[in-house]
Amino acid sequence: MARLVVVSNRVPIPDKSGTAPAGGLAVALQTALEARGGLWLGWSGRSCTDDAVGPLQRLKEGNIEYALTDLTERDVEEYYQGFANRVLWPICHYRLDLAEYGRREMAGYFRVNRFFASRLLPLIEPDDLIWIHDYHLIPLAAELRRQGVTNRIGFFLHIPWPAPDVFHAMPVHEALLTSMTAYDVLGFQTEHDRENFADCLSRHGLGDRLDAFRFTVGERSFTARSYPIGIETDDFAALAKRAAETALHKRMLQSLDGKQLIIGVDRLDYSKGITQRIDAFESFLTRHADSQRKVTLLQITPKSRSEVPEYEAMQRAVAEQAGRVNGALGTVDWVPIRYINRSLRRPALAGLYRMAKLALVTPLRDGMNLVAKEFVAAQNGEDPGVLLLSRFAGAAQELKEAVLVNPYDVEGTADAIARSLAMPVEERRERWTAMMTTLRTNDVFAWCDGFLDDLAAGPTPQQARPAA
Ligand code: F6P
Repeated sequence: MARLVVVSNRVPIPDKSGTAPAGGLAVALQTALEARGGLWLGWSGRSCTDDAVGPLQRLKEGNIEYALTDLTERDVEEYYQGFANRVLWPICHYRLDLAEYGRREMAGYFRVNRFFASRLLPLIEPDDLIWIHDYHLIPLAAELRRQGVTNRIGFFLHIPWPAPDVFHAMPVHEALLTSMTAYDVLGFQTEHDRENFADCLSRHGLGDRLDAFRFTVGERSFTARSYPIGIETDDFAALAKRAAETALHKRMLQSLDGKQLIIGVDRLDYSKGITQRIDAFESFLTRHADSQRKVTLLQITPKSRSEVPEYEAMQRAVAEQAGRVNGALGTVDWVPIRYINRSLRRPALAGLYRMAKLALVTPLRDGMNLVAKEFVAAQNGEDPGVLLLSRFAGAAQELKEAVLVNPYDVEGTADAIARSLAMPVEERRERWTAMMTTLRTNDVFAWCDGFLDDLAAGPTPQQARPAA
């Protein structure tokens, strides 16, 4: 079996505390790579002055060999905080109003991709399969090709690919689109994303479509498919079951004192619809006054990208909003919203999912959303909680038996909360069973194997090399 070389900006550097890495990419890739083994190159998370970027830091944990690189402060500002998180992220999440395009940041993005290529080159062996992840590294394959790399290279986008009109609002969209054609396999979370990408290509007259999945551009051909990312379903279910016996679980139950738990877990990000969700919860409590003091919303929201101005503003806004609702509706012995800005360890999180009667997963736009999948896997099948899920999360394409909502419709979401809390156990079981079947079929290994089978299926580098 060929060695797998994974590249992503964020790498879940082994952490003895066991704190869950924030974000689906880290969780899913770590699980997949532990099973298969391979090399993982990414950012160390540290930034330093130009002359202090040292050699790669190498470490091995189980089956995974990590190669970590520092970036300069300027790199982090221009590439990560700037272009990746103030241009690509808002655009891919349909927030043109938040995109702050600047030439300096764009140049920094391409420069750091060249830098990643230079760090990767000495590590690559001829038969390696190279798998690059997410929007930070779109031009990486084109850089590697320029340096003569002929290995099979795949790319998986963890976030949505937007409709052409939105994508084209980005001044450098053409360069990015062209660089996507340097890959052999392009993976998207949903069919919708794949179609959006194909539409962008055809609007540009870039390449010919051979069939539903295959394209050619000049001499090159590539495949674009959807591979919905999954979780380790049965393992997560077992983790949640075990967590019910822990001291933390018992303390939490005691503190609820018979109240029903509603849970929300999201990075603090404007794409997650947290303010709309709190509005909906407030509207539910106001219009169903008999539910007051009977339910508690636990919103677990680790801070994210705090150096980016939009995220900093959002931190203040959500904290104020939660405080306002608690001030207006709370009583001396009941707090409607318990709001936490920390990551929890995975077993603790799994136990809380299992305890909850309802999960609110209501992003305004999301590539997949693994919280939705983990919540379902964590349930007790005899008396499962309800998943209330945004139509605009990739997970809604698979989990059709969830209670689907439009998160922009605050009153509609409030009604769905009321309906979900009152749902009879037979209906809850029926919905849960159907969703579990899907989650067992489309688990994280199906995602990884499906992608890598397609990546490995093409010509070997030797066959692909043009005759001298
Ligand atoms: O899953 C999407 C994603 O953007 C990943 O690429 C990323 O690692 C994660 O969310 C968390 O974001 P960040 O790495 O910026 O903290």
